[in-house]
Amino acid sequence: MNNDIEKVLISQEELNKRMDEMAEDLNKKYQGQEPIVIPVLNGAMIFASDMIKRLTFKLTIDPMKASSYAGASSTGKVKIVQDVKSDVNGRPVIFMEDIIDTGRTLKALSEEMHKRGAKSVEVVAMLDKPETRVVDFHADEYGFKAPNEFLVGYGLDYNGLYRNLPYIGVLKQEVYA
Ligand code: IMP
Ligand code: MG
Repeated sequence: MNNDIEKVLISQEELNKRMDEMAEDLNKKYQGQEPIVIPVLNGAMIFASDMIKRLTFKLTIDPMKASSYAGASSTGKVKIVQDVKSDVNGRPVIFMEDIIDTGRTLKALSEEMHKRGAKSVEVVAMLDKPETRVVDFHADEYGFKAPNEFLVGYGLDYNGLYRNLPYIGVLKQEVYA
């Protein structure tokens, strides 16, 4: 285990099992449709690539990047830093996100896709942190509920680091003290 990690919260095996289940739901729902899958960069890249490999329907991958975070606390504003290239009008949209925290990012991005005429908008998140929600927003599908702790790994970072850990872990206090 990485020296900066206090404990492993969710292992690769647990993630694999849960991603199989989530993919099964999505595969039932989207057969015959051609959704745009939008990984929200950078955090969702690991989770999204693992999920997308499990999907059997026709899809387009078109990432987006939003910013609202500096270090360990939210600044509250959501800005689209990189937009999708596709015309979403009339297409189902599936966002893939690492973690829903305040809910601001995905609420803003979902509203934007509705505005652009998406046929449907669904949010698939690896983790859901319900205790820190500040806006009314729920992921349609999520892997695990997360405690109100700062987590890293599987795409989740602390100042750009630890995204490559193949599990979700809690960072040692001393690392960000
Ligand atoms: P929010 O839901 O708009 O507050 O933002 C969600 C984003 O905050 C995620 O995509 C992460 O980048 C970041 N985030 C929230 N909680 C954590 C955490 O525990 N570790 C790492 N990043 C986090
Ligand atoms: Mg993120």
